[in-house]
Amino acid sequence: MSNLIYLDHAATSFPKPPEVYEQMDSFYRRAGVNPGRSGYDLCMEAGAMVDETRTMLAGLFGGRDPDRLCFGYNATDALNLVLFGILRPGDHVVSTLVEHNSVLRPLHHLSRDGVEVDLVPFDADGFVDPDSIRKKIKSNTRLVVVNHASNVIGTVQPIREIGRMCREAGVVFAIDSSQSAGTVPIDVEEQFLDAVAFTGHKSLLGPMGIGGLYVREGIEIRHTRAGGTGVRSIEKSHLPEYPFRLEYGTPNVCGIAGLRAGLQWILSRGMGAINAHEMKLARILRDGLAAIPGVTLYCQEALENHIAVLSFNVVGLDAGDVGTMLDVDHDIACRTGLHCAPLVHVQIGTDKIRGSVRFGIGPFITEEQIQKAIAAIGEIAELGRRRARPGAR
Ligand SMILES: Cc1ncc(COP(=O)(O)O)c(C=O)c1O
Repeated sequence: MSNLIYLDHAATSFPKPPEVYEQMDSFYRRAGVNPGRSGYDLCMEAGAMVDETRTMLAGLFGGRDPDRLCFGYNATDALNLVLFGILRPGDHVVSTLVEHNSVLRPLHHLSRDGVEVDLVPFDADGFVDPDSIRKKIKSNTRLVVVNHASNVIGTVQPIREIGRMCREAGVVFAIDSSQSAGTVPIDVEEQFLDAVAFTGHKSLLGPMGIGGLYVREGIEIRHTRAGGTGVRSIEKSHLPEYPFRLEYGTPNVCGIAGLRAGLQWILSRGMGAINAHEMKLARILRDGLAAIPGVTLYCQEALENHIAVLSFNVVGLDAGDVGTMLDVDHDIACRTGLHCAPLVHVQIGTDKIRGSVRFGIGPFITEEQIQKAIAAIGEIAELGRRRARPGAR
């Protein structure tokens, strides 16, 4: 690879640990058959690998029943299953302004069909107050759904407090763990979670196209799809029991093999150690950027309850232009714009200036790369400051 500094880990982790590529290749070559559909050895091997990964993921989320871990394409797919599978016309749902479009757009579609939607804001540090959600709960509230960690401002929401409050109110609580799974502890039991939607290709270090949903015992999600499950084919309806209930058709065996390798890599290093490395670099990055005149950061100083995702802007320049300069002049890849979370920008006012520049740090990023990124923003900000001077063109 070139000298590229890849700071777009919030979009997808890249590169993956070598084992992910190796195991996808070797498993798919050796046993890439339809799992659980027949009794021959390879089929059993593929089925066992899928179930082993189910068990590992359920364990990562503190779930008691691996069968309630259902595989799908990604977090968007899983969130659609939850939202359309729980909410009906006349129901009320509470969510937040920190959500990604994978929640906002399904909720918008549901609102056109008679579902009442309330979105609560976050505070000046980027945190949602559980009390602001509690105040919205009413007799027809069926669901609260919250983005655990923001892909724009990096804040980790107090899901345990929100979960406890929802449990007491008898409302289902679902989280979008796209940015947190694999880097922030998640525990279905301890944090009072009813559904956890995850995507495999970010901090879980797996490939794209694999994700899913853990659903706690006692929470039932209506079928919004139906199809083959490979077992009890004579039944006219889609099977009601988990995991079949929320799995449809042939699973992504190659993706699951890669996700298993990603998980093994995380477990062997320790999630805490990976997070500590990323947050150490986030600290250096934040302090370095904060010291550059003309840089506006959208995160608190302390970086408490935070993931290694930082957003900022440079005076006098569009976020998109900063991204282009980083790419062309400095070989740094990042994301600019609204990051599929438009209401975060509406709340912090960056919607009017076409969003922000986002740096996302992954496990293979080094301090030297972070220092280069800070120096690059230093140079770009100097140009921005000249442009911003009165009378400058
Ligand atoms: C907070 C959040 N939710 C949901 C998603 C959607 O993930 P996927 O595209 O893998 O479904 C993303 C991805 O950017 C995200 O950051």
